[in-house]
Amino acid sequence: MKSFKKWGVSLALVALMVVVSACGGNNKGSNASSSPAESSKAPATESASPSESAPASSNKKVVLGFAQVGAESGWRTANTNSIKESAGEAGFDLKFSDAQQKQENQIKAIRSYIQQKVDVIAFSPVVESGWDTVLKEAKDAGIPVILTDRSVDSKDTSYYKTFIGSDFVEEGRKAGQWVLDQYKDAQKDVNIVELQGTTGSAPANDRKSGFQEMIKSNDKLKIIASQTGDFTRAKGKEVMQAFLKAHKNIDVLYAHNDDMALGAIQAIEAAGLVPGKDIVIISVDAVKDGMTAASEGKINFIVECNPLLGPQLMQAVNDVLANKEIPQRIVTEESTFTSEQAKEALPTRKY
Ligand code: AHR
Repeated sequence: MKSFKKWGVSLALVALMVVVSACGGNNKGSNASSSPAESSKAPATESASPSESAPASSNKKVVLGFAQVGAESGWRTANTNSIKESAGEAGFDLKFSDAQQKQENQIKAIRSYIQQKVDVIAFSPVVESGWDTVLKEAKDAGIPVILTDRSVDSKDTSYYKTFIGSDFVEEGRKAGQWVLDQYKDAQKDVNIVELQGTTGSAPANDRKSGFQEMIKSNDKLKIIASQTGDFTRAKGKEVMQAFLKAHKNIDVLYAHNDDMALGAIQAIEAAGLVPGKDIVIISVDAVKDGMTAASEGKINFIVECNPLLGPQLMQAVNDVLANKEIPQRIVTEESTFTSEQAKEALPTRKY
C-alpha cells in the first residue's frame, strides 16, 4: 500500500513537469499552430503573449535576422549603417547577411534565420516577386517578418507585419513633374534616356511608372532609350556610354539612383559633353556624392529617398514582439533638391 502511494506521488510529479514544460516551451510553437486564416484576421493576437514573446522585457536579447540586398550603392551603405547602429542602440543581437543583389542568397539567409529560430526577420527584397514560399515558411514557424525599403507582390499580406519605406511611385512622379515643368513650352521633341534600377525591383518598376505617368501629358517628352544599370556606378557608366554611341541627340537623363547618374556623368564628360548643361540630369536618392554633383550643377534635380530606416525598424520589432498593433504600411517622408537647394543642404547632410 505504502509503495503504491509512493508510485502515485511520483507519477503525479512527472505529469506536472510535462505540463509545465509544454506551457513554457518555445514561444514560436504558439504561432506555428495558428492557421493562416486566423493570423490574417487578427495579426495583433497571433503571436505569443508579450511575456513569452518580448525578450526585450526579459534578460534575453532580441535576435533580429536581417537579409540585406547588397552593397550596390551609396544609399545601400547608408541604409546598412543605419540598421547596424540602431540595432546596437536597441540592444538587439543582429544577424546580418548581404545577398549581393541575388534573390536566391536572400532566400537562403531567411531560411537560415528560420532554422536559428530568431525572434524577428527583416529584409529588403531584391525583387518584388517570388517570395510566397519562404514567407509562408517563416509564418508557419511563427517568426514575424518586417519588410524595409522594398516590398513584395504577395497577395497574402499576412506574410509580413508591416512594410517600412519610401513611396517609389511618388518619387518617379516627382521626377516626372520636374521634367514636365522644365519643358512645358518645348516646341521640339525632348529626347530622354532612362537608367533603370535592378530589373524586377520595386524601385525600378515604380520609379519608371511614376515618371511615365507624369510626362505622358506632353507628347514632346519622349523616352528614346531605357535600360537597367542595376543601381551601380559601373553599370550606369557602361550603359550611358552605349546610349551616347547610339543617340547623338540626348537632351535628358533620368537615372533611378545617384550612383548610376554619377557613373553616367563620367561617360558624358569622357564624350566631351557637359553634364547638367548639354544633358540635363535627374536622379533619385540624394546621398552625399549625388548632392555634391548637384551642388556643382552636374545633376539638375534630385528626388530624395531616405535610407535611415534603422530607428523605425527597431521600433517596429519591439512593437511586434510586444504584440502591439502596427500599421501595415509606414511611409518615409522625403523631399526634393534643385542644384541651389543641394548646395544649401550639403553641409548638414547625414548620408
Ligand atoms: O531600394 C532603394 C534603392 O536601392 C536606392 O534608390 C538605390 O540607390 C538602392 O540601390
